[in-house]
Amino acid sequence: MQNRTYIKDLNSKKGEEAIIAGWVDIRRDQGKMVFFDMRDMTGKIQCVVLPQKAEVPTESRGSSAIEIAGKIRPEWVLKITGKVNARPEKNVNKDQQNGDVELEVLTIEVLNEAKTPPFQVNENTSGINEDLRMKYKYLDLRTERMQKNIRMRDKIVTFFRQYMHDNGFLDVETPIMTKGTPEGSREYLVPSRLEPGNFYVLPQSPQQFKQLCMVGGVEKYFQIAKCMRDEDTRGDRQPEFTQLDYEMSFVTQEEIITYTEDMFIKMVQTVYPEKKIQQIPFPRLTYAESMEKYSNDKPDLRENKEDPNLLAFCWVVDFPMFEKDSEGGVQAVHHPFTSPKTEDAHLLDTDPLSARANAYDIVLNGYELGGGSIRIHKRELQNKIFELLGLSKELIEARFGHMLEAFEYGAPPHGGCAQGIDRIVMLMQNEPNIREVIAFPKTGEGKDLMMGAPSTASDKQLKELGIQLKK
Ligand code: AMO
Repeated sequence: MQNRTYIKDLNSKKGEEAIIAGWVDIRRDQGKMVFFDMRDMTGKIQCVVLPQKAEVPTESRGSSAIEIAGKIRPEWVLKITGKVNARPEKNVNKDQQNGDVELEVLTIEVLNEAKTPPFQVNENTSGINEDLRMKYKYLDLRTERMQKNIRMRDKIVTFFRQYMHDNGFLDVETPIMTKGTPEGSREYLVPSRLEPGNFYVLPQSPQQFKQLCMVGGVEKYFQIAKCMRDEDTRGDRQPEFTQLDYEMSFVTQEEIITYTEDMFIKMVQTVYPEKKIQQIPFPRLTYAESMEKYSNDKPDLRENKEDPNLLAFCWVVDFPMFEKDSEGGVQAVHHPFTSPKTEDAHLLDTDPLSARANAYDIVLNGYELGGGSIRIHKRELQNKIFELLGLSKELIEARFGHMLEAFEYGAPPHGGCAQGIDRIVMLMQNEPNIREVIAFPKTGEGKDLMMGAPSTASDKQLKELGIQLKK
């Protein structure tokens, strides 16, 4: 819109005319005057429509404004021309954005009307039925809290991107339609039309691709990566979520930890200067210590759990390589590409469950933010780990043959880490779950109530895919 002023900038236009566009936030009539608040993505402003003055001819701009103002309702979309006036001293509210100005409305153009929303948009909606908020997510997004959450999420992600670029990392996109990568969850399958009976797998993380980037000489990779895991949804889990994912060649665990720690300290200083990190450098615990002292591997070390601005980061290191799975076999604690500690490598032959890994987690206020490891980069060791995990020769070849082969073409030593962006934003914004910091989240049952996903496929689509549904 030409000549539009964003509401946050009205303050610098005292005494001038300005055009704004946005939504009616709230309306209140006071005697002959109409007051209403207008809202755009940058904030709110109080508008006042003065009663028609006797000397003003009916066709003038002032007279129609009061008529329209009598009809407008919350969430109508308006374009307003007005004069930015300083508020009378007694009405100044110093703590409020635009608390010292108001817009004297000269003309109103209604750009669109709005039905009465199913919940009030000008109030905090955290107490409103969540299914209703999810169905009308575009209305929930208008609320001040949600606007703030997505804005701060953008700031955090922008900081991470910049930090990665400043340190010479390359943003490399990796495929979404691919083959399974084991991160311990069930996978989402996408049937192939051209090869009926075959499926793409949606990635649980870019793990294999980032390692293959290292084989490809990229050396420093990062990505703000979408990951998909078909697991039971909880407060800190969604079927689809976002990772800050990175990998480096010729790197030690110590270097990754130092790099990551510096990134979080600077992120807090830049984006959340009001927050305090309890201890720098972040304390480190071994997995064994954490289990013994706190009975879990993501201890909440905050000295004052009531303080919303206190951040207690810590590292948990020396995770075991393997743990028992529910069927009596062994499974990787981190993932099967993780290397054993050199001094424990001999245990792989004698007592694999006691072998420790070059694996580390970063924890914040009792939540696992992320984890990583120094990887295996040699064929024999990788093959041995797959065997220890109980995979047959055929299965190893079918699922991971490409990784084993890649390691034979000069794979450099490498390692990396990934953090959950949703969890980071949730904790920084003091929200109780990650759904509050995702623009379009899914329910506990993995549904998108607004779009109506998942949904059925037509007979034609199923036929093309060679799929027959069981009744
Ligand atoms: P990991 O599986 O530990 O490691 O995942 C890293 C981080 O991703 C976040 N996360 C999730 N967030 C929301 N919903 C989920 N369902 C979900 N699952 C995981 C968590 C977690 O700490 N490829 C390895 C990393 C590496 O080794 O470099 C990986 O994905 O914050």
